[in-house]
Parts: sequence; structure tokens; C-alpha cells
Amino acid sequence: MLKNLFGGKAKQDAAAQPASPEQPSTDIAQPEVSLADLPAKLQTLLQEQPKFHAIYEDTELIEADCCNWAIEQQILVWISENVKPGFSTLETGCGYSSVAFAIAGAQHTVLSPIAAEHDAIQRWCAGKEIAMDKIEFLAKASQDVVHSLPQTPLDVVLVDGNHAFPTPFIDWYYTAERVKEGGRMMIDDTQIITGKILKDFLVSEEGRWVLETELGKTAIFRRVTSESVTRGFWFGMQPYCKDPVD
Ligand SMILES: C[S@@+](CC[C@H](N)C(=O)[O-])C[C@H]1O[C@@H](n2cnc3c(N)ncnc32)[C@H](O)[C@@H]1O
Repeated sequence: MLKNLFGGKAKQDAAAQPASPEQPSTDIAQPEVSLADLPAKLQTLLQEQPKFHAIYEDTELIEADCCNWAIEQQILVWISENVKPGFSTLETGCGYSSVAFAIAGAQHTVLSPIAAEHDAIQRWCAGKEIAMDKIEFLAKASQDVVHSLPQTPLDVVLVDGNHAFPTPFIDWYYTAERVKEGGRMMIDDTQIITGKILKDFLVSEEGRWVLETELGKTAIFRRVTSESVTRGFWFGMQPYCKDPVD
């Protein structure tokens, strides 16, 4: 059976998408975003709708350049408005968001396992004269490497790689301490249970994260403390965990 490890994205190009149990269709519509709101190169991206994503089984490539699981357009707008040149940023997964971080001028790390997807993004960007010299592509599953990266501070993290349990939590855990006070943690696909649990947990946290905005299926949190956000408290100190379950 062909597997796609992320699944569940709203489809920009539904007719072209392969079906599998890991790709439940959703009825979530793409919100209307005027192309005029976007920088010219992002407009070109959305007009041309290149297919950066691949079909693969584990890490074996089955077909490259065949799918588009892009994040919602309003998140591309958010990146273009909020990510400034010189920001240090990281995402799990890759695609249109990677292009948006590149256009914004971020020093950006991409963690995702399929090199063919990185090649497709780089090829398309080269053709549009979008500089990729600040983008570091690591062709690894995030859960295998995110803990071992240099602990440099980050302005923005986007969690949008593998949505199966427990990967989003691993992605969050090993990047959360790196987010600067005032920096942002973006959790995509909150219509999937893993994204929803992570969002609900972060919403419940007191004095650590504030839900800055929620755009479609993406929740964007601002870190509001310089104290640790992953250590120093037992479950009874966490609003999300303290009450017994039924
Ligand atoms: C939903 S897509 C990301 C969409 C992207 N943010 C965009 O705007 O186009 C999910 C991505 O996660 C990648 N992925 C799958 N398993 C992964 C893993 N274990 N770690 C990191 N990325 C993974 C896929 O190859 C794919 O690029």
C-alpha cells in the first residue's frame, strides 16, 4: 500500500491527489485570500501551483513532484507579514511554506525526509530567482534528528511534518526551548487529533504560551516567558493534565 506520512491536508489540487487511508479527505475550504495581498513571488507560487510533494513508502520514493499538500494561503500571508529578514526559523515538513520563509529572507532550517521534495522546491525557486542560500534542507525524519540540532534560538517554528502520534509532540518538545521569548510556535493541522491535542495543551498553559491567532487549521502561539517551557513542573502543575480523566 502506498503511504503518505502526513495525510489529512485540505487539498488545493484535489483531483490530482492519490487516495489512501492516511489521506482522509476534508471539507475544509481554502479561505479566500487576495493574491494582491502577497509579495509578487508568492503570487507567482500560488498562480503556478507547482507540485513539490511526493509519494513514498517509509523513505523510499515512489513518485516525485506529484502532489500539493501546501499549507493554507493565509499562513503564507502571515509568514510574509511577520517573518523579517534575518529571522532564525525552522519547519518540519516542507513545501510552499519553505518558499515563503525563503522569500521573507529568513535563516531557515527545513526538516523533512524526502530529498526529492527539497529538489523540487529548489528547482522552482531557482527558476524564479528566489535566493535559497539561507535555507538549510535536512533530508531526515524530524523525529530522528530534531533533538540533535544546535540549540540556537529561533524566532519562528512551524510544526507541519508527520502528523502521526507522537511526531508533532517530538517536533514541539525539541524546538520549544529554542523559541525566543516573544517568538512564535505555529501548529498546523489542528483538525487532526495530534495537532488538536498540542493546540489544546498550549492554550491551557499559563504564563508560557499565548494563542496569538488561529487561522483556519493553524494555531500560532507566542512564547511569553524566558523560563523553561518544557521542564520544572509535574503534571499537577499543568492545567491540561491536573484533573483526573473519567
Ligand atoms: C503537509 S506537508 C507540508 C506542507 C508545507 N508546509 C507546505 O506549505 O507546502 C507534510 C510534509 O511533511 C513531510 N514529512 C513526512 N514525514 C515527515 C517526518 N517524519 N519528519 C518531517 N517531515 C516529514 C512530507 O514529506 C511533507 O513534505
